Amino acid sequence: MRSVPLFGGCSDKELAFIATRVDEVDVATGTTLCKKGESGGDFFIILSGTAEVDLSPGKRRLGPGEFFGEIALVDNGPRTATVRSTSPMRMLVLGHAQFRDVLHQNGEIAVKILRAVTERLRAVTALPSG
Ligand code: CMP
Repeated sequence: MRSVPLFGGCSDKELAFIATRVDEVDVATGTTLCKKGESGGDFFIILSGTAEVDLSPGKRRLGPGEFFGEIALVDNGPRTATVRSTSPMRMLVLGHAQFRDVLHQNGEIAVKILRAVTERLRAVTALPSG
């Protein structure tokens, strides 16, 4: 877990807490991990392998150290995109309650996730410059 940028600022104690909240999961190539429009689900952190985010139109590729599935868990809304594995993957997975526990425990992680959400939003919308 030390190699995951999301946890880069964590103390040993914080990492030990997070370790009690995550599961390590392996999936095969071609597994659908998030399906656009569905509600609920998990938060995923990629340890190895790659996934493709289908934004229809457009695709984004995610790899080791990156994460996905945060948007539907933050706003309890539907998945914004379909995400599929494009190779065998190993991931850390948190359910809704586990994700909330980790965000409540660690403000730095919450800010990193918020930053990713805003970057992803900017990538798909032309925001007025002011
Ligand atoms: P969520 O909406 O829960 O499920 C689909 C996920 O795809 C979403 O969370 C993000 O993690 C990811 N995603 C959505 N839009 C983008 C984007 N523009 N770039 C990278 N990942 C994205």
